[in-house]
Amino acid sequence: MTEDILLSVENLKVHFAMKRRGLTGPKSFVHAVDGVNLKITKGKTFGIVGESGSGKTTTALAVMRLVPITSGTITLGDFRLDQLQGEELRRARRHMQIIFQDPYSSLNPRVRAGAIVREPMDLMDVGETSEREDRVAELFRQVGLRPEQQALFPHQFSGGQRQRIGVARALASQPDLVVCDEPVSALDVAIQAQIINLLRKLQDDLGLTYLFISHDLGVVQYICDEIAVMYLGKVVEQGDRISLFTEPLHPYTWALLSAVPSADPALRDQKNRIRLQGDPPNPIDPPPGCRFASRCPFSQDLCTRETPPLRPIKDGHLVACHLVSDDGVPPQHAD
Ligand SMILES: Nc1ncnc2c1ncn2[C@@H]1O[C@H](COP(=O)(O)OP(=O)(O)O)[C@@H](O)[C@H]1O
Ligand code: SF4
Ligand SMILES: [Mg+2]
Repeated sequence: MTEDILLSVENLKVHFAMKRRGLTGPKSFVHAVDGVNLKITKGKTFGIVGESGSGKTTTALAVMRLVPITSGTITLGDFRLDQLQGEELRRARRHMQIIFQDPYSSLNPRVRAGAIVREPMDLMDVGETSEREDRVAELFRQVGLRPEQQALFPHQFSGGQRQRIGVARALASQPDLVVCDEPVSALDVAIQAQIINLLRKLQDDLGLTYLFISHDLGVVQYICDEIAVMYLGKVVEQGDRISLFTEPLHPYTWALLSAVPSADPALRDQKNRIRLQGDPPNPIDPPPGCRFASRCPFSQDLCTRETPPLRPIKDGHLVACHLVSDDGVPPQHAD
């Protein structure tokens, strides 16, 4: 049986043009997203993790049609999002919503919470006007707020409550896909767990599909069914949560996992421990080869010459590393 795919992204590229040096200098491009493929099953949560600058937000904004797409296709249900314009795009928008990291800056401080949550319904003409008031009250309850709190302004809520308002607003248009871009990164750990639990409950109750973005593998392990690890605009490893956490194959994934205390059992083999040093290289016109080569302890000649393709190893577990063997043996440290 083929599973029901809600979002399909094929070979997505988003390159930002940089200012030319002088009048005749060559034009250069930031390769923010450089050939990303994603398939998200209806009702599931797909995670994207990677350090700051790896292209996660740009991927999210491209899916939402909020940045210009250089090439590639984006299909949401029956909509070819990459091709829609004007009124057609406006109509498709109610099916996808985004929750941002910072509930402080993404909510208008001068607008009452009730109006913030209601606005998408008015803008996108969702449901009967007469029913919208009740619907806003219901949304407040669904996200764990009291309907009376509609009258308050954003600064009268705590950080966690503000993110609940962001969630209620995202749900107002009854979307199929909710893109969550670092939705808990600005919150204390205890509050993070509450918001993650809320998102999971809403998913169960409403059948939502999430694209969930975080720089922290420790966070995605609590919510994602499938996870893609991004580095400098490319997916370097992808798999279901269990195989990614128990059999990580890419040295960059090991480095991210080394920073997650609760993932330690999967990494007891000290050989797999990698501490990341320095920053990722510049994403402007990157050279050929593996983009992780400058920080990879296993890098060889081949790595800087040829770009490793993302290839399947087993059961939907994909990796882009020359030194992972076809039967899934990862690179080894020379003892
Ligand atoms: N509008 C833009 N113009 C030029 N460069 C951009 C723009 N938006 C993002 N970038 C660059 O694209 C890369 C990816 O950024 P981003 O998608 O925000 O990464 P992440 O969300 O993983 O931190 C970064 O190098 C960033 O500086
Ligand atoms: S391809 Fe080479 S440089 Fe890239 S991750 Fe694999 S071993 Fe490291
Ligand atoms: Mg980001």
